[in-house]
Amino acid sequence: MTNWPAGDPSGRAVAGRTAYLILHNTSEVVTPDAEGREVLRFPKGGVVFRDGRVLEVGPVADLFRRHPDARPINANGKLVTPGLVDCHTHMIFGGHRATEFQMKLAGKSYAEIAAGGGGIRSTVNATAAVKEEVLEKTLAMRLERWRANGCTTVEVKSGYGLSTSREVRLLELMGGAAIRVPVRVHRTALLLHALPLEYADKRQAYVDEVRDHMLVEIHRRGMASAIDVFCDPIAFTVEECRDVLTRAVELGFPVKLHAEQMSRFGGARLAAELGARSADHLESAIEEDWRLLAEAGTVGVLLPAAALTLRLPLPEAAMLRRTGARVAIATDFNPGTAPAQSLMEMAALSSRLCGFTAEESLLAITWNAAKALGAEAEVGHLSPGTWGDAVLWECETLEELPYWMPAVRPDTVFMRGADLALPAVERRVWP
Ligand code: NIG
Ligand code: FE
Repeated sequence: MTNWPAGDPSGRAVAGRTAYLILHNTSEVVTPDAEGREVLRFPKGGVVFRDGRVLEVGPVADLFRRHPDARPINANGKLVTPGLVDCHTHMIFGGHRATEFQMKLAGKSYAEIAAGGGGIRSTVNATAAVKEEVLEKTLAMRLERWRANGCTTVEVKSGYGLSTSREVRLLELMGGAAIRVPVRVHRTALLLHALPLEYADKRQAYVDEVRDHMLVEIHRRGMASAIDVFCDPIAFTVEECRDVLTRAVELGFPVKLHAEQMSRFGGARLAAELGARSADHLESAIEEDWRLLAEAGTVGVLLPAAALTLRLPLPEAAMLRRTGARVAIATDFNPGTAPAQSLMEMAALSSRLCGFTAEESLLAITWNAAKALGAEAEVGHLSPGTWGDAVLWECETLEELPYWMPAVRPDTVFMRGADLALPAVERRVWP
């Protein structure tokens, strides 16, 4: 007996609409366990999806016996993983900064370029110059590219607005873009990113404005699932960041920080002190910082594209292992330091630059990245009850994922146990 809808002989179009599926004939199914402690491997294993969620993962003969009515989907001998999670992007912006990249290569520093009118503020102007519908459509196209590269959950930060009305608008446009593309979008309000020029000689007034108005307005409208700040000598001090993030925590927001990027500045310690979900960048962090993050349960997010662009070092996997910290890898996609559009490519680079195993790389772009978003109960692993977000890759083994360059491509991306777009009623942005 099958539950195929009548009248569709092709099979292919049916798959996405069928609520009860068994993915079989895989080379292997690999997934972090539910606690993100280890990577489970099921050679020639299968996955059963029901009503959008994972029902069971395991040896395929057992699954067929227990689920005789599930519609079989043939994986054609390919590898299956959970959908990837890109936990740090700045995807909503106008323009690009390719000229600035040439200046960097010619020896100018990020700080010098910013002081000369480039940097984040130039993207703020370029973003303001783009029509809203174009910003939304461009973001939707980017999300679609991420989905095609295997990411089923993507964090998007605001931060190229620098005023309450513009930051709110960017967050609204994210909601619009998310409806167009079958990707789960987590919206983060990046509130201390750069000091607007009109506040050049009154920094505290800007911090007050962000803490007392921008933050409160975003909270009132329920537009973001986390608050972020850029804690760095070229951006905002530890005290300024603590000021805004403490208020954010009081309002009930999870928080995260861009920390220890250009220099060791105290952002990792602040992240641990506040119980932040993640501290991101960390190129200048030392082992002690990673230990603090580990103790606080704060995920350390590595952004290899930004490190490469700014020629900053990445940490050694051996040191990270000693600390017991959870490590995620993200694209940091942004026009200044990380025009990087493939998360798997970032995993392939980091495995070489840091020395991660294939298992560690997978954890860093699935369970650990989900934890950085507070979404580890729902995504980042194929455990019973999680969303049926999975990728069938054009390769056979886990070890091939960080191996090929350019990165391995998905054959099929499943969202909610379906290989077609999400139904229109599906909630796309969190919150
Ligand atoms: O994560 N560090 C701050 N923000 C971005 C860069 C933003 C930009 O240069 O436009 C980052 O690297
Ligand atoms: Fe960033």
